[in-house]
Amino acid sequence: MKTPPALHELERIPRHVAVIMDGNGRWARQRLLPRIEGHRRGIESVRAVVRAAGELGIEYLTLYAFSKENWRRPKMEIAALMRLLERFLREEIGELNENKVRLKTIGARDDLPPRVLSQLRKTEAATAKNSGLTLILALSYGARDEILRAVRRVAADAVAGRLSPDAVDEIAFAARLDTAGVPDPDLLIRTSGELRVSNFLLWQISYAEFVISPALWPDFRREHFLEALREFANRRRRFGGVDPVSRKA
Ligand code: FPP
Repeated sequence: MKTPPALHELERIPRHVAVIMDGNGRWARQRLLPRIEGHRRGIESVRAVVRAAGELGIEYLTLYAFSKENWRRPKMEIAALMRLLERFLREEIGELNENKVRLKTIGARDDLPPRVLSQLRKTEAATAKNSGLTLILALSYGARDEILRAVRRVAADAVAGRLSPDAVDEIAFAARLDTAGVPDPDLLIRTSGELRVSNFLLWQISYAEFVISPALWPDFRREHFLEALREFANRRRRFGGVDPVSRKA
């Protein structure tokens, strides 16, 4: 890998970075370890990336921790993932507060086991006043599910007379998504070299830059994150328009 850039070299820092953390299972298989060992090591990567994002002044970091589709995994793997998640939420409060990180979630969180949900509420409350990075964990998250829940809210508001159909614009719709109030991701990173969106933030990533890292998530650490940010900093974002340079030509 190339030498990672120093922090001051990154002139263009995204406000919101979203990450599809992929490759835990392959990392474990390569080492003849159970899949859960990959998830366990993956938590170290979560810590490293949260720390780096906070230090760089990134405002929002959204991590795809558990998808709606992940409920189809073997019961044992789900149980182990839920235990890891609960422990992370319990043990991380001190470090999150030290780094001024505020924890939030998106997704159908009522699907989560009661113990996890209760710890989630505690960690959210304990970090609610922090003013640095907002860490958003996508839990039991699926973008189509999120969009459908927003559509139901729109329909309910319309039926109740609180919202006229003519007033349903992008702003009114986005305000009913789980990400209400959060700016769209500028950068979407996926690890392990896969080129898929996997039902993640379908509405919100309309103009996001994609960076695919070949590293498996448990190997993805600060220097890989900085490398992705460097790639982002070198991209020109046009939002469907033209480059100011080519417009002149
Ligand atoms: C993808 O790897 C990863 C997941 C489904 C879960 C991600 C979870 C963690 C990193 C740990 C828990 C997270 C937090 C925030 C505490 P995969 O199992 O799909 O890998 P594979 O494609 O190689 O099988």
